[in-house]
Amino acid sequence: MILSAQGLCKSFRFGEQQIEVLRGVDLELAEASSLSIRGDSGCGKTTLLNLLARLETASEGKIQWKELSLDASTKASTQEIRLRANFLGVVYQAYYLIPELNVLENVLIGASLAGRNRIESKNRARYLLSKMGVEEKQTQIPQKLSGGERQRVAIARALINQPKVVLADEPTGNLDERTGGEVMDLLLESCQQEKSSLLLVTHNRTFAEATDRQAFLQDGSLNPL
Ligand SMILES: Nc1ncnc2c1ncn2[C@@H]1O[C@H](COP(=O)(O)OP(=O)(O)OP(=O)(O)O)[C@@H](O)[C@H]1O
Ligand SMILES: [Mg+2]
Repeated sequence: MILSAQGLCKSFRFGEQQIEVLRGVDLELAEASSLSIRGDSGCGKTTLLNLLARLETASEGKIQWKELSLDASTKASTQEIRLRANFLGVVYQAYYLIPELNVLENVLIGASLAGRNRIESKNRARYLLSKMGVEEKQTQIPQKLSGGERQRVAIARALINQPKVVLADEPTGNLDERTGGEVMDLLLESCQQEKSSLLLVTHNRTFAEATDRQAFLQDGSLNPL
């Protein structure tokens, strides 16, 4: 397994109340494979991705990044944060490109976080941008791009370090049907080519069915289809 989790629990305090969002999630993602997760709004999909990326701490549970075992209830160490830049790429619904940086610089951010060689990374960034069909937008700032183009840039950024895993949280959620379809095809195809495993959160059944395996998050646990 390239990514796995056992018994992930997460609860949030809501005033006096304690809400248990995840109640023991088990997950396994094999190398160079894809898995989609569906579930009602508010069921904890984003929370789960944040735990797997070690951006949030769990109430309890274990995570493995390849052979590295992690206690999900502890905060990510500096070493893990450095490792994460090489291990994981993330694609968000709202793109989260840095508005002050141009397209090429946005893609290169991930490479510099991972301490990669600048010239090699630049070549790879250009290669990925051309694969995404936005090579000619390199010097534009994100504000001048359409939503579909922004998400293509975000996919290139996620893939810059040849990550073992890509986490995508409703990557087509802000796009119209046709653009969403094009972006999803690019995401699936490029993860496959790069041999990056893909964990895809989506509300779209057709997209979910395009992955190797499908699962539903319901009542705090992940159930395979
Ligand atoms: N930081 C937080 N503090 C308190 N409650 C939170 C926090 N983050 C998430 N929650 C709650 O946890 C639940 C799960 O949220 P989450 O964003 O993971 O859902 P989701 O499945 O991604 O939903 P959507 O499909 O709408 O994106 C929600 O009830 C939400 O209000
Ligand atoms: Mg969400």
